[in-house]
This record gives sequence, structure tokens and C-alpha cells, in this order.
Amino acid sequence: MALAPAAIVMAAGKGTRMKSEHPKALAPLLGQPLISYVLRALEAAGASPIIVVVGHGAEQVQQALGERYHYALQAEQLGTGHAVMQALPHLPADAAHVLVASGDSPLVTPEVFHALYETALRTDAACVLATALLDDPTGYGRILRDAAGAVVGIVEEKDATAEQRAIREVCTSFYCFRADALRDALPQLDNQNAQGEYYLTDVIGILAQQGARIETWQSPDPTLLLGVNNRWELAQAAHALRMRILKQLCLEGVTIVDPATTYIEPTVHIGRDTVVEPNTHLRGNTTIGANCILGPDLYLQDTQVGDRCHLFRSHIVGARIEAEVSVGPFAHIRPGTVLHRGVRVGDFVEIKNVEIGEGTKVLHLTYLGDATIGRNTNIGAGTITCNYDGARKHRTVIGDNVFVGSHATLIAPVTIGDGAYIAAASPITDDVPPESLAIARSHQTVKEGWVRKRRESKQHGAGGNEQ
Ligand code: UD1
Ligand code: CA
Repeated sequence: MALAPAAIVMAAGKGTRMKSEHPKALAPLLGQPLISYVLRALEAAGASPIIVVVGHGAEQVQQALGERYHYALQAEQLGTGHAVMQALPHLPADAAHVLVASGDSPLVTPEVFHALYETALRTDAACVLATALLDDPTGYGRILRDAAGAVVGIVEEKDATAEQRAIREVCTSFYCFRADALRDALPQLDNQNAQGEYYLTDVIGILAQQGARIETWQSPDPTLLLGVNNRWELAQAAHALRMRILKQLCLEGVTIVDPATTYIEPTVHIGRDTVVEPNTHLRGNTTIGANCILGPDLYLQDTQVGDRCHLFRSHIVGARIEAEVSVGPFAHIRPGTVLHRGVRVGDFVEIKNVEIGEGTKVLHLTYLGDATIGRNTNIGAGTITCNYDGARKHRTVIGDNVFVGSHATLIAPVTIGDGAYIAAASPITDDVPPESLAIARSHQTVKEGWVRKRRESKQHGAGGNEQ
């Protein structure tokens, strides 16, 4: 394709219909800001530069999106036409074509922008307009055509007659303008309409009146172009995007057992032959290897997982998990945790900021925090690292081939050498050298016949009372 088109994304509006304190552009959609989907599609289509029109919550939006985009401030939100006008000074003088998009339409794909730009190049139209044919066009601007089928303008729903409202072809707020036509038409807008706004949609009528060529590109899949104005539409967009992600993963060789209960964000990568069981949530910066079984009932966020792992019915955030690790059921793995190859973590185990060496087992009822544990060590049921003294956190270091008996209490800072044995139920306060046994508990006392003697003395006492 020829020189890249520039792009303007409108995102200054308050999003009144969201009924929110926060700018609509940042409404979370599968873990990403609503507007980021449009921006990524534009980037993938090769648009450059991309100018984002910000206004309501401008600083917040700019901070969230960062330096990769140019920003134009629309201090007062006087309409979509006014928004695009604010971006014009940021447009490179030699830009021939400008893609204009609404920031609230997250289902758009790079192909839509390709199609608009390609049509603009091919036809030299002043504007190529993306339209959709909707069964229920409520809320959208309607496309007005003359008897010959040529576009003559767009009428907003609030300004439309009953007859115009029956039109099912709608404006989707995706356009490719010839830059000269856009620069020429924008200053001619007025705000004589139901909302008292400068409508970008009126540019089409102005251009048509001047005899300029207007082309339309109708999306074969109208859902690509749907806008999000309220939270129900946000939920519907999330569902559509989610299904798109799950389908893509399936086609790449991942088994999704139940798409209805599987939540995978667009930032997640999964290897082949991995099976995702029902009620699994994979979020954030997460990568999963090949041949894993994930779920049922798994929440995993910002975690790297190697091949052939089995993770189920657990909550895992901010961890690095090597190959052949198993976790679950009912484990809670917290940030800073590294599980090396072949580690096994079982039920009711909480692990925070701990590195665990190859082949080590932590199978039942355990809290490990701020520790380093070696290879092939066995952490018995009920082991607790006491890492917090009420003011500061301390580390526990456990070597290779250590046996920590059940219900040991490891009072940090403490180091247990390679091959050591910790007797069950021992509170360990001092370092244990390698290959040694540490027992820290009082000796058991057995009083033989104690029960019998007590019974007899009770009977004596009772007899005495009867007399
Ligand atoms: C707009 C179109 C409508 C189209 C629909 C498709 C206009 C006048 N109407 O209506 O024909 O069918 O999109 O989704 O263009 N914005 C600004 N500054 C403003 C006003 C809006 O930046 O002063 C931004 C908003 O943040 C939003 C986008 O422009 O991202 C569209 O605004 P919105 O109010 O959602 O327009 P719609 O009513 O959806
Ligand atoms: Ca909208």
C-alpha cells in the first residue's frame, strides 16, 4: 500500500450514558482500556501518526495510553466535528489521507481500516464511510441516499424524522477522508441541530453538496463496528471480543472445553495442545506453555507457565512456573514466587515471594513466605514460615533434600542446611546445619495408670458424699 494514512481517534467525550466518574475511553474491557482496541487496530493497519482527541479526563487518558500517540486537547466537548477540528493542527502537512475513528468501538479490526484506505486510494473519494446494516439501528446516525443510491448525508437519530429513523443503514464513525476535503469541509460545520453540537457526520452532507465523491464500505459483519455507549453495550462487546480470542486460540491448537465460562484476555499466549477446562480466568501478562492442563476453576494473572503443567482450582498471581509443575486444588500462589521444574503444590497452601527448587513438594496446609527452598525437599503438612515479626519481614532459607516434618514452625530469619531433618511439631528458631536433626519440643511425659487412679479417687469421693 502507498504512504501510510494518518489517524484521528475521538475520545474526548464524557460518556454520559456510562454513568461513571471515570472517562469512557478508559472503561476496562478484558483488562485493557476501551480505547486501546481501536488504537491497536489502527497501529496494525499501519496508520501513522495517530492523534487522540482527549478532553474529559484528558490527563488520565494520556497517562494511561502513554507516549506512543499524539494528543489534541478538546477543552470543551462541542461535538465530534469540533473534536476532529482540534486534531487538524497536529496533522502532518503532507498527509494525504486521514482515518477517523470513534474511540468507543472496540470490535473494529485492522482489516476495516485497510478496506477504507484501499477504497479511498482506488476511488479517490473525498470520503469513504464505513456503514453497517443493523436490524435495530436505534441510537446510530442514519445514511441518507438519493434515488440513484448516492450518499447525500447523515442524519443523527435525535434530528431524524420518523421516516428517516426507519433506515437501517447506519454511520459507524469509521471514515477515511482525503485530508484536503476534510480540512476544507470542517470549518463549514454549524451546530444548528437537536444537540447544539458540531457533528462530524454533517461533513458528509457538506461534501456531497459540493459534488465531492462519497463512497461507502459496508462491513460484511456489522458487529465489527458496534459502539459502546453504556455498560450493557460494554458487556456485549466484552463477550464478542472474548469469543473472538477463544476461537483464535482454538484455531491455533488450544482446547477450550467450555467457551461460555472461559475468560482469556488478549494479552495471554498459550502453547499447543494445552487444555483449558471450564471456569478458568487467564489475565494480564501471562504466557502458558504447551501440553498443560489448566482448570477447572483456575484464576491466573501475570504468570509465566512452562510446558506440561497441571494447574487447577487455585489462585495464582505474579508467579513464574517452570515445566511439569502441578498446583492445586485450593492453592494461593502470590507475587514473587518461582516454582522450578517438577515442583508439586497441593491443597490449602499459600506461597508468597518464595523460590522453590526442582522436585520439591509442598502438599498440604502450609504457609511459605519470603523463603528460598532447594531441590527435592519435602515440606510437611502444616509447615509455617513465620516471616513477619510485626514490624519487618525476614527470610527463611531451606537447602536441598531437606525433610521438614509436619507442623514445623520456622521462625525467620533462619537457615536449614542441605539434607537436614526437622522433627514434626518443632518451632525452629536457630539455624540447623546440614545433615543434622533438629527437634525443638518438650519431652512427652507418660503417667501410667493415671486415668484409672483418677476414676478410683472420684468413686471414693462420691461414696464419701453418700454417707
Ligand atoms: C456517533 C455518530 C453517529 C454514529 C455513532 C457510531 C456523530 C454526531 N454521531 O454517535 O452518527 O452512528 O457515533 O458509533 O458523530 N467525542 C469527542 N468530542 C465530542 C463528542 C464526542 O471526542 O465533543 C467522542 C466521544 O468520546 C466518542 C466519539 O466521539 O468516542 C463518539 O461520540 P458519541 O457521543 O459516542 O457519539 P454517538 O452518539 O455514538
Ligand atoms: Ca458512541
